[in-house]
Amino acid sequence: MQVSHVTPQLMRTVLGHFCSGITVITTMSDGGPIGFTCQSFGSLSLDPPLVMFSPGRSSTTWPRIRDVGTFAINVLAAHHDGLSNGFAVSGADKFAGVKWSPGSLGAPILDDVVAWAECRLWAEYDGGDHTIVAAEVLDLQANSQDRPLLYFRGAYHLPHPHDNNHTGRQ
Ligand SMILES: Cc1cc2nc3c(=O)[nH]c(=O)nc-3n(C[C@H](O)[C@H](O)[C@H](O)COP(=O)(O)O)c2cc1C
Repeated sequence: MQVSHVTPQLMRTVLGHFCSGITVITTMSDGGPIGFTCQSFGSLSLDPPLVMFSPGRSSTTWPRIRDVGTFAINVLAAHHDGLSNGFAVSGADKFAGVKWSPGSLGAPILDDVVAWAECRLWAEYDGGDHTIVAAEVLDLQANSQDRPLLYFRGAYHLPHPHDNNHTGRQ
């Protein structure tokens, strides 16, 4: 149900001001590797170790990943804008020309990603025209040498080269 003036377009425009990284979520299906681009990703819980993301109801790839039950979340690097666009095309041969290697669960870890997490489906909740997936992290690794691909107001951005300060929580 539409609430007053809050249209999908207004949601997209205003909430596009929230800057994020970009992930590609992958798994190995019976028919080969599959995956889709996903911006709506975040850390959820430290103990147990959980992350979350939101597949759209119209995604054809998420139900196939759900059926496998395990998957990898690949955090894209600054030069991966082509990968981000490629993994967003429904029905395409998304892995054509893409370099990857299998993680310990068999899910594709894409080459040169800044971080990856191997996960198992924990729970899935209603999220309107999306669903909310909570996933248990079984293994994860970061390559802190590379810079991430950023997404802001519907466009890709690179991190500012002088942003070298670390203020991360321990
Ligand atoms: C930058 C970017 C961010 C995206 N973020 C999401 C997202 O958070 N959730 C989602 O379901 N789809 C997202 N998409 C769209 C999906 O990648 C796309 O709908 C999906 O890959 C369609 O293919 P499929 O039918 O194989 O799932 C995003 C696409 C792009 C280009």
